[in-house]
Amino acid sequence: MSTQLKFGILTVSDSCHLEPLKDQSGPKLIEEVLKHFPCSLCTPKIVPDHLDEITNTLVQWSNEKYNVILTTGGTGFSSRDVTPEATLNVIEKKAPALTYAMTSNSLKITPMAMLSRAVCGIRSQTLIINLPGSKKAAIECFGFIKDVIPHAVALLT
Ligand code: MTE
Repeated sequence: MSTQLKFGILTVSDSCHLEPLKDQSGPKLIEEVLKHFPCSLCTPKIVPDHLDEITNTLVQWSNEKYNVILTTGGTGFSSRDVTPEATLNVIEKKAPALTYAMTSNSLKITPMAMLSRAVCGIRSQTLIINLPGSKKAAIECFGFIKDVIPHAVALLT
């Protein structure tokens, strides 16, 4: 796709927020996004597993008309995992089939996919997609939904 898409790559992790060099998933996601959408602009950010910080970034990037926000991390079952709750706070419409595509395909790789509570949805003109936190899981899940992104964005703009 030759249109320039604005991607926000949001790593949600207490430990990566303290030590940004620990973040493997964010840089790898940027690499994958640029591979598949070479004309896109990617803005990376790392926030801790904190509801307000995640929510504020999602709102800010949506207000700035980012086309797609990929979050990575914080979708699991631990008490600090609140990325889906922050996403539910801000989306106006759910996109459950994107989550379904990631879950159903991921289950063919690992039963641990059952442990992601990822949410996908739309705020204004921005598509927000929760990905799991590990580099492997984030790239696998991005791979399952990446092909529909251009049409999804076209429908939103
Ligand atoms: N999905 C895929 N495709 N591949 C994986 O390896 N790991 C799972 C799951 N989803 C995994 C996956 C694991 S082990 C967990 S705990 C959950 O995602 C939640 O991860 P998170 O808390 O880092 O977001």
